[in-house]
Amino acid sequence: MNPNSLVSIDDLSKEQLLDILADARFFEENPNHKILDGKVVATLFFEPSTRTRLSFETAVNRLGGRVIGFSDANTSSSSKGESLKDTIKMVSNYVDLIIMRHYQEGAAEYATGVTETPIINAGDGSNQHPSQTMLDLYSIMKTQGGLDNLEITMVGDLKYGRTVHSLLMAMRFFNPKFRFVSCPELAMPREYIDLCDKLGIKYEIHTELSPEVINSTDILYMTRVQRERFPDLAEYERVKDFYSLNNAMLSGSRDNLRVLHPLPRLNEISEDVDDNPKAYYFDQARNGLFARQALICRALGISVEDIKKAESK
Ligand code: CP
Repeated sequence: MNPNSLVSIDDLSKEQLLDILADARFFEENPNHKILDGKVVATLFFEPSTRTRLSFETAVNRLGGRVIGFSDANTSSSSKGESLKDTIKMVSNYVDLIIMRHYQEGAAEYATGVTETPIINAGDGSNQHPSQTMLDLYSIMKTQGGLDNLEITMVGDLKYGRTVHSLLMAMRFFNPKFRFVSCPELAMPREYIDLCDKLGIKYEIHTELSPEVINSTDILYMTRVQRERFPDLAEYERVKDFYSLNNAMLSGSRDNLRVLHPLPRLNEISEDVDDNPKAYYFDQARNGLFARQALICRALGISVEDIKKAESK
């Protein structure tokens, strides 16, 4: 496995997380640095995406590299039955970095075992989405002035939502208090509750997104109920509209509260929230560009210092 691969947010120490966030700030100040001249990056998306793929590809373009890949696996030879192993080995012949989204949990980890080319996991089933977590952390840091001692409420599909799983793991370094709000069918999986217990992370479990919960929250992290993960679509229909945040529900919230959502949203945030200054989800998606520029450079072994040196010549 290439040590620069990023499969799980758990791969990163607190210091590494903070370094990446500092790098993201550097890229936000100026996203255009032609440091990837001659580098080719593959984006292999076996599952649909708007933000993750386009922000990664924009990141490569703004850094002066080139992108190959597919956004629909049906246009690749995997539709003819080619295995993931063979696909990864083939693409590794052509590129310096592979950014990969796959519907199977563990697919990114598996890919790191068949190539020495660095891999960035852009989401594997309901498991992990570490690059989303970096932009989430960056968004939290920007809006709250830091990451420590925050009250974070996660709402919706906590069972299948890979973004909440990754964010929970990353926040373990920063003494959070979590509130997990979901219907019982979509509760936070046992392994993450056990992790909180083991690490002494404070949490409460709720089924109602009540005024008491909202009004004692710094970050309200809404999520979509993920139809594509349900083995039984009748079950999805039953739980899909359990939570819907509207503007009136924010009337008693803290001044510093920000509403985050990895997007896409369906009905879980009403459009009347969009103009509330506490709605941060579109800015959050914008932050993805800077966080992903930082992750691409890290995966390729390029530091911000290298960039500054190259640009001062
Ligand atoms: N947040 C996120 O992963 O969005 P996409 O599915 O559009 O990439």
